[in-house]
Amino acid sequence: MDSTKRMLQANRAWVERKLSLQPDYFTEMAKEQKPEFLWIGCSDSRVPAEEITGTSPGELFVHRNVANLVLHTDLNVMSVLQFAVETLKVKHVIVCGHYNCGGVKAALSHKRYGLMNKWLRQIKDTYHHHRAEVDAFETYDQRVNALVEASVVEQVHNLVQTSIIQRAWHEEQRPTLHGWVYALSDGLIKPLVQLDPDTRIDDAYRFDFDDVTG
Ligand code: CO
Repeated sequence: MDSTKRMLQANRAWVERKLSLQPDYFTEMAKEQKPEFLWIGCSDSRVPAEEITGTSPGELFVHRNVANLVLHTDLNVMSVLQFAVETLKVKHVIVCGHYNCGGVKAALSHKRYGLMNKWLRQIKDTYHHHRAEVDAFETYDQRVNALVEASVVEQVHNLVQTSIIQRAWHEEQRPTLHGWVYALSDGLIKPLVQLDPDTRIDDAYRFDFDDVTG
């Protein structure tokens, strides 16, 4: 059997299983979504958001891209963020990177990747800013993983710098922002940073929300 046929067959079996446990599972699920979390993760096939966090359909609003970047010029991630925060009203936004990330390795190299050079550029900037601490590690793998961690923290700060997060913090005291990193080697998630809605915002990036013009 070819592999896509196998997927469709597995889908049928999954539907049967769900219905046998809860006959109205799909009618209930189809009504609405109220996820508590926005998950921003890497596209890597080995980091399935729901499976590694024990969450079920309906719990995570998910955005994945190469190396889990939050770029202000990316309409895709910004639209996902706005919808999750302003319409779904998620309580937590989680940026989850992973060690040994191919995107981070590519950014650390001197190879040209065409259009991907543009996408990976911010990781190069993060390396540039954290060069001393990253290069202090002895092995290549350690340096990659140090940059993975630095980049996750950078993405969480990118979230804070959006008017979307700042407005929600100002008006609704949510969401809490989290930076996590997943280890492919043992399956464990390590929390790196957590920013609560009362976190002080660097003045260079702070927007005003008290003026009447909003
Ligand atoms: Co990756």
